[in-house]
Amino acid sequence: MSLFGRLWIVFCFFEVTVYCQYAMYQMDEDYDEEADDEYSPAFYFHSDQDYGISSHQNPLGCAAECFCPLTFPSAMYCDNRKLKTIPKIPMHIEQLYLQFNEIEAVTAHPFANASKLKEINLGHNKIKSHKIERGVFVGLSNLLQLHLEHNDIEDFPSPLPSSLEKLLLGYNEISRVEANAMEGLMNLTTLDLCHNRLQDSSLRENFSQMSKLVQLNLGSNRLESMPPDLPSSLMHLSLENNSISLIPDNYFQRFPKLLALRVSSNSLREIPYDVFNISSLIELNVGHNKLKQAFYIPRSLQHLYMEDNDIEYINVTLMCPRIDPMHYHHLTYIRLDQNRLKEPISSYVFFCFPYIHSIYYGEQRKPDGQMMLLKTQVFRRFQEEEEEEEGDGEGNEPEGQERGRTEENFDPYFY
Ligand SMILES: *[C@@H]1O[C@H](CO)[C@@H](O)[C@H](O)[C@H]1NC(C)=O
Ligand SMILES: *[C@@H]1O[C@H](CO)[C@@H](O)[C@H](O)[C@H]1NC(C)=O
Ligand SMILES: *[C@@H]1O[C@H](CO)[C@@H](O)[C@H](O)[C@H]1NC(C)=O
Ligand SMILES: *[C@@H]1O[C@H](CO)[C@@H](O)[C@H](O)[C@H]1NC(C)=O
Ligand SMILES: *[C@@H]1O[C@H](CO)[C@@H](O)[C@H](O)[C@H]1NC(C)=O
Ligand SMILES: *[C@@H]1O[C@H](CO)[C@@H](O)[C@H](O)[C@H]1NC(C)=O
Repeated sequence: MSLFGRLWIVFCFFEVTVYCQYAMYQMDEDYDEEADDEYSPAFYFHSDQDYGISSHQNPLGCAAECFCPLTFPSAMYCDNRKLKTIPKIPMHIEQLYLQFNEIEAVTAHPFANASKLKEINLGHNKIKSHKIERGVFVGLSNLLQLHLEHNDIEDFPSPLPSSLEKLLLGYNEISRVEANAMEGLMNLTTLDLCHNRLQDSSLRENFSQMSKLVQLNLGSNRLESMPPDLPSSLMHLSLENNSISLIPDNYFQRFPKLLALRVSSNSLREIPYDVFNISSLIELNVGHNKLKQAFYIPRSLQHLYMEDNDIEYINVTLMCPRIDPMHYHHLTYIRLDQNRLKEPISSYVFFCFPYIHSIYYGEQRKPDGQMMLLKTQVFRRFQEEEEEEEGDGEGNEPEGQERGRTEENFDPYFY
């Protein structure tokens, strides 16, 4: 392989790795239709660095503990400073960065003049629910983003301002959602509640009032059933890593805009045959469950993740009951490793899904629990561009190389 080819692959690998770390928490932002550039900081200052400007020179004022760059005058950077309390926030501040401190309490006093705030980042602190002064955020009527991830919060915070669009509450200890906590959050588009302690009973609250909600992450909680009353505006839904064992018939019918769905790492054994018949769906992850059978694949679906289930045989007729030459299925990729397959899927799959680019079989489980490799570990229809450029006619690659590359392309978190 040429040096350029190698560099290219290394480059791709890094790009994917960086993306993963981002994607794991933020959930596929690339599908987010609404540009929030308006209020996102255009540049990020590493406040530990010395920019040669004393904070006291900022004519509009800045808390002594913080940094207010002249080039981005609406922002106040107070992150990473071992702060135990929130400094006084000057009137003109719109972006407030307080992440990675040791803040335990959120009191109203520092916010007294801060009515212009659009974004507050209090992530990675030590905030507990009873130390959040009641109503401290509700008066901030311009607030669009609130980051409270990685704290010790036990209750869904409420009341919150109805202007809020993005609320990040992941990695807390939330188990309680007060009645009407969601009421009035009618502009919320992103809600992240992953890695909390939510149970079915915590979700009695009516989520469907958030009628603009696009992304909802309920991954890594303690749910045993699919949540009722989710808003029909959802485009991204993650329920991964809960204990859900059943998906009711027609559950997804009320989500006509759903693009990406993760129900991986649950306890699903059987699912209604046509439950994923969602006409907008592009990404579906049902990996790490106990499924035995394939199911109906909607025409829009492009990427299907089914790894680590109990599938012995894939009946392609179930996935694709008929071929319509006018409306082909869009499926390009299937991941199937760690099942109980004894042989690759019938080649009928390529008639049903003419855009299939690759099927990843990896290792399969034998009845005795040992892993085995199928003869075909990866099916790949098209040669990668750089392989073609090599063009010396040898079709077979050394196995190690093939497997290495497979892992790059099909990182389980990259989608
Ligand atoms: C709010 O503004 C007033 C008037 O400028 C000032 O006296 C007061 O200290 C400010 N309070 C806070 C908490 O920043
Ligand atoms: C909700 O969003 C709309 C459209 O962006 C805006 O006009 C409205 O003022 C927002 N509501 C609140 C309470 O901020
Ligand atoms: C939830 O809210 C929606 C819209 O606000 C309403 O139509 C529905 O009846 C509510 N459901 C419950 C169980 O309160
Ligand atoms: C799955 O959820 C459990 C808690 O319910 C958590 O401890 C674990 O880290 C989660 N696993 C992943 C891969 O996120
Ligand atoms: C899928 O849904 C469409 C309409 O939404 C319906 O016409 C079709 O029969 C369904 N297919 C299956 C297999 O349920
Ligand atoms: C595959 O599924 C179809 C439709 O349900 C059924 O008629 C057929 O018998 C199945 N084939 C096998 C080999 O199980």
